[in-house]
Amino acid sequence: MSESTEEKIRQAIAQPMNMGEMADADAVGTVGNPDCGDMLRMWIKFTEKDGKKVIDRASFQSFGCQTAIAVASVATEMLRGKSVDEARALSSAELAEDLGPLPPMKIHCGQMVEGALRSALEAEESAAPASVVGSPDASNLIHSLAAAPKHAGKLRIVLDPTGN
Ligand code: FES
Repeated sequence: MSESTEEKIRQAIAQPMNMGEMADADAVGTVGNPDCGDMLRMWIKFTEKDGKKVIDRASFQSFGCQTAIAVASVATEMLRGKSVDEARALSSAELAEDLGPLPPMKIHCGQMVEGALRSALEAEESAAPASVVGSPDASNLIHSLAAAPKHAGKLRIVLDPTGN
């Protein structure tokens, strides 16, 4: 990993942007990586701009992966103002662009962010309800996932009790 990428990731983890549940989200997507056991959920709120539906804001919650936090932090910033088609066209490398190229063994972390975004966009298109965000049991990702398996989109979760 280049020094500048490493430093940018470190800074993004230290002060992540847009982290946390979004109570008034229009769409939510969740993805788990069965290989490393990490999970990421993304919430999206849309707005109208010049007669077009665009992303007003996005937020995320990550469980288990620091690099995914860094990628989701910069990705949720760059998603503002993007249309659904523009957001869907973004690759994981583009979502992580502000950090610089991720090292090969961390590329799947960015792909998890892309997966959560796509899952949320698909949920929006199929007009699925925006999960149970805001319920008393949805105070964190695990509770939220447990409370709303039907609304979790493309959900593949493997919990690793060892934390590895
Ligand atoms: Fe598995 Fe980052 S998503 S290590």
